[in-house]
Parts: sequence; C-alpha cells; structure tokens
Amino acid sequence: MDRIAVEGGSRLTGTVRVNGSKNAALPIMAAALLANGPSVIEGVPLLRDVKTLLDVLATLGVEHERDESGALRLRVVDESPVTAPYELVCQMRASICVLGPLLAKRGTARVSLPGGCAIGVRPIDLHRKGVEALGATTAVEHGYVVARCDHLRGANIFLGGAFGSTVLGTANTLMAACLADGVTTIESAACEPEVEDLARFINTMGGSIEGAGSPVVRVKGVRSLRGTRHRVIPDRIEAATFMIAAALTQGDVTIENVRPLHLGAVIDILRRAGAEITAYDNACRVVGPRTLRPVDVTTLPYPGVPTDVQAQLMALLCIASGISIVTEKIYPDRFMHVAELQRMGADLRKEGPSVIVNGVTELSGAQVMASDLRASASLILAGLVARGTTEVSRVYHLDRGYERIEERLRALGASIRRFDDGEVPPDKPQPVTAESNV
Ligand code: EPU
Repeated sequence: MDRIAVEGGSRLTGTVRVNGSKNAALPIMAAALLANGPSVIEGVPLLRDVKTLLDVLATLGVEHERDESGALRLRVVDESPVTAPYELVCQMRASICVLGPLLAKRGTARVSLPGGCAIGVRPIDLHRKGVEALGATTAVEHGYVVARCDHLRGANIFLGGAFGSTVLGTANTLMAACLADGVTTIESAACEPEVEDLARFINTMGGSIEGAGSPVVRVKGVRSLRGTRHRVIPDRIEAATFMIAAALTQGDVTIENVRPLHLGAVIDILRRAGAEITAYDNACRVVGPRTLRPVDVTTLPYPGVPTDVQAQLMALLCIASGISIVTEKIYPDRFMHVAELQRMGADLRKEGPSVIVNGVTELSGAQVMASDLRASASLILAGLVARGTTEVSRVYHLDRGYERIEERLRALGASIRRFDDGEVPPDKPQPVTAESNV
C-alpha cells in the first residue's frame, strides 16, 4: 500500500492547473445511460472513483474508451442489466447515481445500498422519495434498493431533508424526471454547481431542464435523449485544497482552471484568515499571510462553505493565532481527521458537531492515517507546515479524488514523495546492508 511522506517547511510558489470536477463527472457519466448513442465527456479526471463508476457502468452494459485528447467516450451496448453490485457500490457510495437513469431508461434499477462510511451515515431516503413521487415503487431487498416503474409521470416534489438539500438525490430525481411524461418541479433542490453541470449535459442531449443551480428545478420530460459532447466544470474542491495549501505555507500560488464564482465562501474564509486573493475569470492567485488569523467556519449546502473542504480548512486553522470554531452541518460525524491532527500537535476539542480549534505555533510531523478522501488531504496540508516528516498511510483514499497530488505539490516546491510499504521512507536512514558494510 502506498504512503506519502511530507517534509514540512517549504513555501509553495508557482502555478497549478485544476482538473475537471470529480463530483460533476460522476453523475454526468451515469447520465450517459439515458442516451441513445455515444456520449463524449471531456475533462474527466483519472481517479479511482471514476474507475469504480466505469466498472459499475460496465456491469450495466456501457463500454468506454479514452480518445487521444483524454476525453471519455461512453456507449450503451446492452440495455438489459439493471444491477449495480455490492462489491462496487461499497467502494464508492456515489454509485447510487445510476438509480435514476436506470429506472427512467430500463424500468427497473437494483442498486446495492451503500452502507456506512468514514464520514457518517449516508441515507438514501430522499433518492427514494424523489423517484417514488414520479410513480416508481421502491423496496429494500437483500441489501439492494430496488426501484420499478411502468412509466414515470411528472410531479411536484419537495426534496429537502433534515440536513438541507441532497446533491445526488437531486441528480437522481432530475435524471428520472427527464424521460417522464409531463413536467416535474423539484423544490429544495441542491444548488451545487455540479447539479447545474449535469442539467447542462442533459439539455445538450435534448432534455429540457430549467432552474438548475437554484432551489427550484423544472424538468419537462422528453421522449428520448441523444448522445452528446460535454466538458465538465473545474473541480472546486481541488481548487480550494490548493488555495488552502498556498495560504497555509505563506505561499504565492496561481491556480488555473478554477471558477472563483463557485468558491465565494472559501475565498471569504481565506481572506478573513489573512490571505490575499486575486480572483480572475478562470484563475485565482493566493498569497498566504505571515500569521493566519482564526476564523469560525460552518459548512452548509452551496453556496455555503462545502463540507468537502472542512477538513482542509481545519488544518489551516490549527496554526492560526487564536481560537476558531468549525461546525459541520452536513455530516455531523465527519471528524475522523481530528484525532490524526492531534497526533501532529494540534489543539482540538470536539463538542457535538463542532470542533474548537485553538491555534498552536507549530505542528510536528508524525505518522498519521487517512480515513477518507478529504481527511487525507487535510493531513497532507498539515504536513506541509509541520516540523519534520509526516507520513500519511492509506493514501488510496486520496487517490479517489486527487490526481497525482504529490507531483503537483512538488512542482510548487513542496518536499513530498509517495512510496510503498516495501520502501524505506525518504527521511529515514537507509539500512546498512551486508554489502554496504563491506
Ligand atoms: N441525506 C439524507 N437523505 C438522503 C440523501 C442525503 O438525509 O437520501 C443527507 C446526508 O446524510 C447529508 C446531506 O443530506 O447529511 C447531504 O448529503 P448529499 O446527499 O448532498 O450527499 P451526496 O450527494 O451523497 C455529494 C458529494 C459528497 C459531498 C456531499 C455534500 C458526490 C459524488 N458526492 O454526496 O462528496 O460531501 O454531496 O456536498 O457528489 C467528496 O467528494 O469527498 C464527497 C463526499
């Protein structure tokens, strides 16, 4: 298993380019199930989660290839399979996003229930509510959610839940609604840019969706959808991670292929922490301050602070000059990184869905363990400013959402290296072998 070693203390400078969005690409890939004819999706990053969804789609009769430009071409060759199996769904809960398109196109969907994960409970009641409102029946059978319909009919659906809107629940409902008879109105829809990108993709396939990106989405059902070509939006979470890395290391980094409009809440937090941020149409320059100021952070559905940057922001606040309170309103248990950051000397106290962060002057490198994707990113960020070497294990979590992050941080000046269990970590003295002893 791979690990990453980071030697703290380097100031990051230079330019880095952000990839296409993982969380936009996944539902868009699933939407290819709806098309008659091939879909070509540009900007899909080379990530483990993308590979997992390609495996799910393969079991559902979808062939794929990357063309010479790197674009992903998806083509449905067999419309008979309807099952997304446990072995794949348990690797990536976002596989649930095949539910809506399978139901709409094939009349039945059998998707393994995702089960729990490191960031907490991941219920799918709102996904079921959405498709049931369109006329489907759903049931849990042998660990699978099974949805069936003769045909789907447009409806008015309120999709808000106890934690606000649902991103993939909205995606599933609108993918099912786009082939339903009549008009569907989804209220309390997720406003995330990834939902808007999915709607844009479906509209270029011949769909008719209005209002995506706002809380009220109107979907006019069409008879069929054709394959199309689409470029996914830049990954706002990857962009935010590089912005935080720059702010944390007193760096000066220009981040390209980013839409600052998608990152208003993160930019606001970083400015309040003392970073200087210049936003351009498609790029962003971040200059980190000498001393970071404490800031309170509360995660919320878009356009609030994304839960997917909570862990990375916490790494930054660990060395701010005072007390910050970080409150998680989307996944109240998404705090697996806290105990690992404490191992690096962070002064953190968990109080219900909040963590009180008392900034320390210095973190110290330690052996830490990644528990989920964004927690892994936060440990790498903490390692960039810790004294000595931080060794992050289980980095396969990181590979689910960041493509070659260590190479890209190294290009900005970080001292970081990936190694596998068989190798000696780069900071440790090489063992004296019999040969070298001679
Ligand atoms: N929820 C319900 N019932 C449901 C669905 C969700 O109560 O049926 C709750 C969840 O438990 C949570 C809240 O609603 O409290 C929001 O969850 P949501 O459904 O929006 O999450 P998701 O769509 O499953 C996507 C991202 C996550 C990101 C969340 C929140 C993808 C592939 N995943 O998940 O990304 O954290 O939205 O923004 O888009 C990540 O990339 O690291 C990641 C976990």
